[in-house]
Amino acid sequence: MDTSSIVILDFGSQYTQLIARRIREQNVFSVVLPCTAKLKEIASYKPLGIILSGGPSSVYDSDAPPADPGVLQLGKPVLGICYGLQFITHHLGGKVRSAEKREYGHAQVSVVDAATPLFSGLPASLQVWMSHGDEALDLPPGFHLTAKTSNAVAGIANPEKKIWAVQFHPEVHHTPLGTELLRNFLFNICNAKPDWTPEHFIQSTVSAIRDKVGDDHAICALSGGVDSSVAAVLVHRAIGDRLTCVFVDNGVLRKNEFFKVQENLRGKLGLNLVAVDASGRFLSKLAGITDPETKRKIIGNEFIAVFDDEAHRIAQQTGGVDWLVQGTLYPDVIESSSVKGPSQTIKSHHNVGGLPETMKLKLIEPLRDLFKDEVRRIGRDLGMPDDILQRQPFPGPGLAVRILGEITPERVALLQEADDIVVTEIKAAGLYQQIWQSFAVLLPVKSVGVMGDQRTYAYTCAIRAVHSEDGMTADWVPLPYDVLKKISSRIVNEIRGINRVVYDITSKPPGTIEWE
Ligand code: XMP
Repeated sequence: MDTSSIVILDFGSQYTQLIARRIREQNVFSVVLPCTAKLKEIASYKPLGIILSGGPSSVYDSDAPPADPGVLQLGKPVLGICYGLQFITHHLGGKVRSAEKREYGHAQVSVVDAATPLFSGLPASLQVWMSHGDEALDLPPGFHLTAKTSNAVAGIANPEKKIWAVQFHPEVHHTPLGTELLRNFLFNICNAKPDWTPEHFIQSTVSAIRDKVGDDHAICALSGGVDSSVAAVLVHRAIGDRLTCVFVDNGVLRKNEFFKVQENLRGKLGLNLVAVDASGRFLSKLAGITDPETKRKIIGNEFIAVFDDEAHRIAQQTGGVDWLVQGTLYPDVIESSSVKGPSQTIKSHHNVGGLPETMKLKLIEPLRDLFKDEVRRIGRDLGMPDDILQRQPFPGPGLAVRILGEITPERVALLQEADDIVVTEIKAAGLYQQIWQSFAVLLPVKSVGVMGDQRTYAYTCAIRAVHSEDGMTADWVPLPYDVLKKISSRIVNEIRGINRVVYDITSKPPGTIEWE
């Protein structure tokens, strides 16, 4: 990466990623590192400034996050946020204490030192979001108070040492002028340039991939979704047809998806694409299986087997493949680098592109610095169609996790039709892009109905529509009645085999988004 950046040290706040996003929204590159990052690693990002995030601990906790206080001596501007303020206070000779009155939620802050560049252009009284139990009691030598609430320190600074800190969270939207404050840090204090743009990213990434891959060959597993497609298009820009993309029909894709993806990626975007119809292979392995986890494992393993076969075939044709392209995004990188406690497996995720190390391929992950919305922006600049960029998330195991009970070709066909009706009607109502996911689920429940004068005995289909930020939690969406009515009427009238439609009104938690 040849741009300079702002390094954010993560002390465990739930808002750390938000700080990175807010800074990138100003077209300045920012990177989140664990608070334990070595000074050398921090320096390798050529930081123009360093932000110390919030965090749940107290500086006096025995397990307080152990950052190197040397970050305060690098001579780079530092902004401490919440725990970051307490870290600075504690390590530079001040005193932190447990607050008499804990502050959570909205608070009003008075700016005490209006000349502080951090508050430049901001009013004397600020509405902010606080969440802390500790507070600074004595400021470290050389520091002065820049802002306060009615009962606590809200901002401190030592301009000589280039250290600023606030007790509140400028990165959340409950601090309405927080972005202005962050802009002040970036542009008034760090002299950052807003040069982190899509063109810049595309140019530098394409040339870095070209240098890295040289004359070698690369392969990529495509799902037709946003991440793997944008990653493939970037690598294709760099090495052309020395990238072979593999798209596998696992028998549980959506209606016509096998053809649509080929048309988009090979036809419109010119990728060198091998489309493998392995549907028979998958469906025969899935026959008779009803347990959700077993289904997931079968599909994940079979995908790897099919991809491995293709990779060998391609290697024979090209004289060898050395690189594997993956659409890993920044949140995955941060998540896997943070310390995780033992957590229960709710579902074994299968991600297209998440392939095993035994393949012995070197990785190219061109999106590992980006958030999802940034990937869409890059895709747009690469000339990719909205069909791909605005697609709702679709799980790796496909329709299999939406067919409860046994998966048979007939039941796949039923759900493909129902899913197609849901997507078409949601799009027609102009709701597709406002909803995180909207889809149909086929239940293994038959009930009695009447059609004309005929008795029917057929399957039930559930409709699910959810809002979500990141898939971790979700709220069900109250779709307009007329849209539900149209969907229901089309499904029962057009699909022979489904005679009842129900609506899923469960949020996550306690439900999950997919039914299996
Ligand atoms: P759940 O059902 O766990 O889903 O609430 C959360 C989000 O993840 C998607 N999902 C998957 N995505 N491979 C994926 O790539 C998977 O195995 C998988 N399972 C669920 C789901 O569609 C939702 O967006």
